[in-house]
Amino acid sequence: MEKKNIRIFDTTLRDGEQSPGCSMNLSEKVSMARQLEKLGVDIIEAGFPIASEGDFEAVKAVSDECRNVTVAALCRTVDGDIDRAAEALRKAANPRIHTFLATSDIHLEYKLKKTREEVLEMAYRGVSRARDAASEVEFSAEDATRSDVDFLCEVLSAAADAGATILNIPDTVGYTLPEEYRALIKTVKEKVVGDRDIAISVHCHNDLGLAVANSLAAIDGGATQVECTVNGIGERAGNASLEEFVMACTVRADRLPVGHNIDTTQLYPTSRLLSSIISFDVQPNKAIVGRNAFAHEAGIHQHGVLSNPLCYEIMTPESVGVSKNSIVLGKHSGRHALLARYEELGYHFEAEEAAAIYTRFVALADKKKSIYDQDLIAIVPEQVRLQAAA
Ligand code: KIV
Ligand code: ZN
Repeated sequence: MEKKNIRIFDTTLRDGEQSPGCSMNLSEKVSMARQLEKLGVDIIEAGFPIASEGDFEAVKAVSDECRNVTVAALCRTVDGDIDRAAEALRKAANPRIHTFLATSDIHLEYKLKKTREEVLEMAYRGVSRARDAASEVEFSAEDATRSDVDFLCEVLSAAADAGATILNIPDTVGYTLPEEYRALIKTVKEKVVGDRDIAISVHCHNDLGLAVANSLAAIDGGATQVECTVNGIGERAGNASLEEFVMACTVRADRLPVGHNIDTTQLYPTSRLLSSIISFDVQPNKAIVGRNAFAHEAGIHQHGVLSNPLCYEIMTPESVGVSKNSIVLGKHSGRHALLARYEELGYHFEAEEAAAIYTRFVALADKKKSIYDQDLIAIVPEQVRLQAAA
């Protein structure tokens, strides 16, 4: 099978950040962006500059800071939005304007109050203006999966004619099914892309719990860019989870012959950093990064894993950056074991800080039977956490 390289477009700082409980301040966004760069994502969508001053500043700061990735800024296809996105990206080493417009009849009638002809015209004009301001333009047909396919293809063709080189087909409301989505991507590839040098991107929401499955199906249909978020955060039920998508491609390389630039050992540290910044954690049974993802409780499983981890593990904890260390930290643990665990998690404390963190640990261990990595990270002062991510 021919091996294609998939580009990972991370939208944790935009689609992820705009969901309840996930807001981040400027320094937190910059720390997260640095970690995303270290993780190896290809594109960081840093914000929606017209939406707020904070988003504008975040796109500017990430553009200054992250020189080895593409930095994307979101905008509608209206002049003010596009100009603001271009301004925020002015200093980016590799800028991308990401402009979007809805194509489904329901959005045209109730949200945009525009006819199909008007939308076609807006797509063409918006992308042309964005192309004048940036060398790389991505166009997204919002609510693509509930759009009339012929009209969707017409709008995407107009965007491509105006200079968009990445066409995104979002499943905005998490409605599609894998086989249906694969077929839609194939249709767009045949009818719109043809032999033009244009990439197809996919962006799936998780309302039916299918965001990763749909993204994988889309790869089979011809998509070469996947939009996702760390821990799957995002509007409503979230976006496709970056770590799940990447590990599905990695573990099942036999059936999914795609390459990526992600350093998988950075998946867990990235997930932890995000959880420590926003106000909620992943569920314990979350694939790849949940605290139970590599825990074996049943005796029969424990026995099998001890004989050979492959009995019940399809990937090693180390391959995603989870330490295999089996020392259980509790109220009887000493300072030494605690600080060693912190070193493994990427935190180093000077003597005074170490004493303070140990006191906090003992207080916590008095209240809580099992202390997980998440608990340890939660008691690290915010300043130290941000430094560790720097
Ligand atoms: O879900 C969606 O359609 C989006 C677009 C702006 C890409 O987030
Ligand atoms: Zn979205």
